[in-house]
Amino acid sequence: MKHIIEALDQRREAARLGGGQKRIDAQHARGKLTARERIELLLDHGSFEEFDMFVQHRATDFGMDKGEKIPADGVVTGWGTINGRTVYVFAKDFTVFGGSLSETHAQKIMKIQDMALKNRAPIIGLFDAGGARIQEGVAALGGYGEVFQRNVLASGVIPQISLIMGPCAGGDVYSPAMTDFIFMVRDTSYMFVTGPDVVKTVTNETVTAEELGGASVHTTKSSIADRGYDNDVEALLQMRRLIDFLPSSNTDEAPEWPTFDDAERYDHSLDTLVPDNPNKPYDVKELITKVVDEGDFFEIQEAHAKNIVVGFGRMEGRTVGIVANQPMVLAGVLDIDASRKAARFVRFCDCFSIPIVTFVDVPGFLPGTAQEYGGLIKHGAKLLFAYAEATVPKVTVITRKAFGGAYDVMASKHLRGDVNYAWPSAQIAVMGAKGAVEIIFRQDIGDSEKIAARTKEYEDRFLSPFVAAERGYIDEVIQPYGTRKRVARALAMLRHKELENPWKKHDNIPL
Ligand code: HXC
Repeated sequence: MKHIIEALDQRREAARLGGGQKRIDAQHARGKLTARERIELLLDHGSFEEFDMFVQHRATDFGMDKGEKIPADGVVTGWGTINGRTVYVFAKDFTVFGGSLSETHAQKIMKIQDMALKNRAPIIGLFDAGGARIQEGVAALGGYGEVFQRNVLASGVIPQISLIMGPCAGGDVYSPAMTDFIFMVRDTSYMFVTGPDVVKTVTNETVTAEELGGASVHTTKSSIADRGYDNDVEALLQMRRLIDFLPSSNTDEAPEWPTFDDAERYDHSLDTLVPDNPNKPYDVKELITKVVDEGDFFEIQEAHAKNIVVGFGRMEGRTVGIVANQPMVLAGVLDIDASRKAARFVRFCDCFSIPIVTFVDVPGFLPGTAQEYGGLIKHGAKLLFAYAEATVPKVTVITRKAFGGAYDVMASKHLRGDVNYAWPSAQIAVMGAKGAVEIIFRQDIGDSEKIAARTKEYEDRFLSPFVAAERGYIDEVIQPYGTRKRVARALAMLRHKELENPWKKHDNIPL
């Protein structure tokens, strides 16, 4: 018996070496960890249970029947815990056929996807791979298709997270693209459908892998990735932090963590956050971190469309999604990128029953041909649609400007905002004073005295929260220093909110 037990240990030991020490050393020399080292860091110590360690490919073409058969076939799969909560994980092993996807490799991922969906727990994929296993041809393509189908079925049921930690090309890109979040490691990871060589052949462009699909491109320009991290260790630890904000499924509540931050805490520095000059910016992130528990804010897409800020925080230990116009960038205007970014975030929160807190300071939608030709109408409508369909608790605080259509869009009362507050500095109007006066008193434009008087009249009448409050569009005008307390109380009151949209197969959000 002893030798049988020892034989198992030896087989496991060999399997854990993946493509062998030489390839592991090469992986380390590039500043990357191996698949198993990554899992070890991601999960609670000793919690990983591996499945299918001895699975091997069954390919026979191109000498594959005579070549190496490496156990685990280029992907390490299983489950474990993050701060005690179950998550499923698969990690591509670049040391085995470059982490490429074979038929059996795909079956291992599918098994984990099926288990995650059946058992309602998040799934995290760690990517570092060269696409379809070239020697397997169509069997690999079929494998990808099966993985994609499972991504779609799981969407909105369990959180799906992708972390790109090396090459991610060809068939490998579309599974992450259908998950909720994509994160990348700077300088060692890249994502593209077709690589630099194919680009050169087809379009004659000369471009490096980093320029084509590195973290800097995808976190800023394309917005494919939600954040970039400096190295494997930082990225994996941040995934643990993110999981702590998320519910395990759409039928679970987000976990509640102990907090030492008093929900009734006043912050008098907020009374001077909004400058006297309405054209002067301020940093809305200061407001966010002063309102949420212990200033802990996990920002999503921080480097893209910076005129809107989205991310997760907690109030009284429970997760909230924060959406905030950022006056520091383009005066917080809504444009195509900001609308798409916030719409996707709002929809994620709604899928997973995460209440949404919205801080509003928005001068309107961005004018111009670039925006109109780019489809601002359709993209702006995404955010409007997302807020309007959301049934989770929605608490809104207007700190300064809420002008025009953007007022309606940003979780207004008219889109079923549950509790809508305004600071005394709020200005809720069709537009700013200058634009308004120049239109309705066009005949007085040459007379500066008259224009000044008209502007003052407009400001006094409309640039305040009170016209909206008179109509009940604002539930209460609140003191800035008490914002945390008022938002926390509103969320507590809304904890058992029940609201259902009419039955439908699915909606038709303007894509
Ligand atoms: C089989 C592969 C492989 C693949 C890499 N390897 N990619 N084996 N199928 N797709 C193997 C290599 O033979 C090598 O084996 C080892 O992995 C490491 O690869 P290197 O090239 O030495 O590494 P590196 O220089 O770092 O380059 C990494 C790479 C490159 C950029 C990913 O390997 C590459 O371009 N691979 C091919 C990418 C590709 O065209 N994939 C198919 C995409 S089409 P040894 O034994 O030497 O260690 C696709 C269609 C699916 O995916 C569409 C579905 C919708």
